[in-house]
Amino acid sequence: MIENILNKDAFTSEDIVTLLSAEGTEKQLLFAKSAAVKEQHVQKKVYFRGLIEFSNICRKDCLYCGIRKSNTTVNRYNVSDKEILEAVDFALKSKFASVVLQSGELENTAFVDRVENLLQKISEQTEGKIRVTLSLGEQTEETYKRWFNAGAQRFLLRIETSNADLYKKLHPNDSLHSFEQRLNCIRTLKSIGYQTGTGVMIGLPFQTTEDLANDLLFFKERGIDMIGMGPYIEHEDTPLYEFRDQLLPLKERFELSLKMIAVLRIMMKNINIAATTALQAIDKMGREKALKIGANVIMPNITPGIYRNNYLLYQNKPCTDENADDCSQCLEARVQMSGDEVAWDEWGDSKHFLERRD
Ligand code: 5AD
Ligand code: FES
Repeated sequence: MIENILNKDAFTSEDIVTLLSAEGTEKQLLFAKSAAVKEQHVQKKVYFRGLIEFSNICRKDCLYCGIRKSNTTVNRYNVSDKEILEAVDFALKSKFASVVLQSGELENTAFVDRVENLLQKISEQTEGKIRVTLSLGEQTEETYKRWFNAGAQRFLLRIETSNADLYKKLHPNDSLHSFEQRLNCIRTLKSIGYQTGTGVMIGLPFQTTEDLANDLLFFKERGIDMIGMGPYIEHEDTPLYEFRDQLLPLKERFELSLKMIAVLRIMMKNINIAATTALQAIDKMGREKALKIGANVIMPNITPGIYRNNYLLYQNKPCTDENADDCSQCLEARVQMSGDEVAWDEWGDSKHFLERRD
């Protein structure tokens, strides 16, 4: 049964639901296939992206997110430009070759100017040796263009769920949290020429396996270059916490996330797929397990340590109290344990992007 599906060229929504429900030997077949596809199409290489969470100040109020605007228990911080540039330098010296600048969502002139200026400085300071990914939420086309022209090559903007009705249940019902706007932004990013990344949360309240199957089909239809997706983890200071009794147990959310990654790798052979931190929050070896069955990117957190405890999108976030050096040293050993090699000093552009551009 599973073998027949795994041998197909393209999966239907029903096929994906069957794959996501695989257990025991069937699950092992799925994982063996996704591992083989990974090895054949993107090799056993893992790319590191140094993640700098430079501010947790956010204008939005997503009902699942720990740093939502209405959460008054959060200590809001803003890493200085100097510290950001130092973190970039650390990434370069650590041979990461890529950084991700992430923050809460802000849309004002000072913020847009600041990011543009930072991008120019990064490009000068590193002599263009480092790839910069932005993860700064919904912005106007003009802003996305300015940042692209200032040197950002990649952008991450998760769709969170491709089901518009479910999206509405996870966000306040206002124009600042519009599903259509989110879709438009992803389209715009692609048209500007960014390597475009998106993703979803897995195991959300009200989410069905069909929703998840449609998420994977959505990524394929939109020709996405990079995916970051991981388990939803409830946070007690958010409105969605109310529905915690309806969630799958954490371990099942974790297993479902691994299956999502495996099926996606088979469907989109040459994209970049991140082994996300949320996986590690549930299982200490979570990211390594994801690498084994299809993921090929890890984002070590290189935010200056003193700020790190305040960027808690969800609870039990790992590695918040270590310094960056500890993380990068132990990571290589762990990647090798999963049978992969770290691609030091390589940009690791999405092959999907390079091929669609040519
Ligand atoms: N659990 C898991 N992931 C979360 N994110 C936000 N809140 C949570 C949570 N409670 C994810 C969202 C967002 C990304 C930056 O973090 O998908 O896009
Ligand atoms: Fe900040 Fe969702 S709460 S973007």
